[in-house]
Amino acid sequence: MENLKIELKHTNISEEEMNQYSTEVEKIHQDLYKKANDEKEFLGWLNLPTDYDKEEFDRIKAVAKKVKEDSDIFLVIGIGGSYLGARAVIEAMNSPFANEMVEEKNPKVIFVGNNLNPDYIHDVIEFIGDKDLSINVISKSGTTTEPAIAFRIFREFLENKYGIAEARSRIYVTTDKQKGALKKLADSEGYESFVIPDNVGGRYSVLTAVGLLPIAVSGIDIDKLMCGAVAAQNRYADEKLKYNDCYKYAVARNILYKKEKNIELLVDYDPKLHYMIEWWKQLYGESEGKEGKGIFPAGVEFTTDLHSMGQYIQQGRRNLFETVLNIENSKTDLEIKNDEDNLDGLNYLVGKSLDYVNKKAMEATIEAHVSGDVPNIVITMNQLDEENLGQLIYFFELACAMSGRLLGVNPFDQPGVEAYKKNMFRLLGKPGYEK
Ligand code: PA5
Repeated sequence: MENLKIELKHTNISEEEMNQYSTEVEKIHQDLYKKANDEKEFLGWLNLPTDYDKEEFDRIKAVAKKVKEDSDIFLVIGIGGSYLGARAVIEAMNSPFANEMVEEKNPKVIFVGNNLNPDYIHDVIEFIGDKDLSINVISKSGTTTEPAIAFRIFREFLENKYGIAEARSRIYVTTDKQKGALKKLADSEGYESFVIPDNVGGRYSVLTAVGLLPIAVSGIDIDKLMCGAVAAQNRYADEKLKYNDCYKYAVARNILYKKEKNIELLVDYDPKLHYMIEWWKQLYGESEGKEGKGIFPAGVEFTTDLHSMGQYIQQGRRNLFETVLNIENSKTDLEIKNDEDNLDGLNYLVGKSLDYVNKKAMEATIEAHVSGDVPNIVITMNQLDEENLGQLIYFFELACAMSGRLLGVNPFDQPGVEAYKKNMFRLLGKPGYEK
């Protein structure tokens, strides 16, 4: 398995600037590893690729097999960290038309409980029609409003469709091992349950049952995904900044931030990575955006967005930098053929592949944006497969922890998320929120 490659040459960051962070990086590294097994520290994800519940992992595979046999649809109910990681991996690995393909051999994974829109739920119910389905409701707290409402609706739907007893055998719960309303419900109804470890926060939980069950149901090899994460865990365990590309990414972000580059655009050249960007946005936004600090994480998809956001990036306010996700080898390719009339003027590309053109667009864009004072970091994956995604996930998680600590914030809490909830509960008349 090839390692991820990180290039900083388009950032204009000097070795000297980097080296200034060496001692601090080592200190933070040691502190993270010292507390890795402390239940109160939310660092369980650090050793997760090697230190996980093997019995539960096998159970995930067994449930995935059962769902493949008895369901056409796997309805995944969750929001934020209880949703984005699974969607990111599933969309990265599957055809964008997988859910439309009648002959698809794996259940279609549909996500609900990530918004409150009634039309969306209505459309999902219409799509389900008379197809067979199972449900995976995911919530660490077990009390989040969006998934709780969706679960109430779809639990009733399932019970009406199959009767209470069979519905029970089609509901899978992923939640805290002891507490929360969902845990109580799962215990009283006898739903098969999976655990979100206490010391793994929502946005760091994709390699637990939170992500692994939906990912396995969609037909993706979770052994290989974990294998990639193990490789990253080993590779990025070096406290020395000069040998650790993951920490170099974290440091580069902080150096750029100090130079007023306070918006990071994660860029892809493959629409399958759209939800990878969404997952990354939550990871970094929720981990770093606090105490009036933080790089604002945003995403763009090229070349699509070069025709919408390209102008701003090239010449707008100069507070941006980009991190480009480059996939070295596309899975398939197309050759551009000769056209005798050449009315479209494309014959200069005859014999070239579409991936070649895409790569040239990437090179050209990096050159243009860098010349427009938008520094570029480039992360290259050998190909878009389970191993590389496992590596990338671990890479971003560890870099996020390091980056947040360098910034001087706690990368594992999210106190600001509560503000809208309190107002919403007051407006909805929830008991206890009158004032
Ligand atoms: O990262 C986080 O902690 C959040 O995004 C949560 O994952 C999200 O709010 C959903 O919470 P829960 O899993 O408790 O329903």
